[in-house]
Amino acid sequence: MSNSKNSAGTKDSIAIAMTGASGAAYGLRLLQCLVNAGEQVHLMISKAAQIVIAMEGNVNISGTPADMQQQLTKIYKAKPGQLHVWGKEQWASPVASGSGAPRAMVVCPCTSAFLSAAANGTSSDLMERAADVAIKENNKLILVHRETPLSAIHLENALKLSRLGVTILSANPGFYQKPESISDLVDFVVARILDQLEIKNDLLPRWGE
Ligand SMILES: Cc1cc2nc3c(=O)[nH]c(=O)nc-3n(C[C@H](O)[C@H](O)[C@H](O)COP(=O)(O)O)c2cc1C
Repeated sequence: MSNSKNSAGTKDSIAIAMTGASGAAYGLRLLQCLVNAGEQVHLMISKAAQIVIAMEGNVNISGTPADMQQQLTKIYKAKPGQLHVWGKEQWASPVASGSGAPRAMVVCPCTSAFLSAAANGTSSDLMERAADVAIKENNKLILVHRETPLSAIHLENALKLSRLGVTILSANPGFYQKPESISDLVDFVVARILDQLEIKNDLLPRWGE
């Protein structure tokens, strides 16, 4: 009997949720790398993330999820059908159910608000539901949290999620590679995410090379 997740094709995809923490460049660079690697991507962008993307001036996107899908497909040269952008109440998305869930989900950047929602299983919009599904299905879930300083609330939420198998991959680039640009710092973090997803990349020289 065929595995319904595999035959649906969604097990071969990856979900990215961009929330309204500073560092939209991390999420957009991750999207670009996944598209270049030929991955199918389900993307969700919170309202706050759209504000941060506009403020940080990474790319010019606006309108409905379908509009943003079209704009990002063009910017990152995705193949037809490779990139899906979902709105917060599009419950028909495969990411909303364990039977269609992607093999991994990355929340990048991840707000403290999302960290709390994930730790408490609130599922009040599509991206929170997708994280809840990833946890219940034991699928890979990576939270690229950006916040400083961290309160006991943040630390307790992160610890609870870590104990459930969620990867807390804070957006804190190292400097030992002697970065020359912001892109180098962004790539430091994105390389660590791609490593966690087991996607080959040469964004950074490896330690010891
Ligand atoms: C420019 C800007 C930067 C922000 N940076 C952060 C941040 O680094 N971390 C964080 O947790 N929240 C940050 N926030 C606040 C969140 O956007 C806010 O809590 C929002 O409600 C999160 O909603 P979301 O998780 O649905 O995206 C920032 C907001 C703005 C406008």
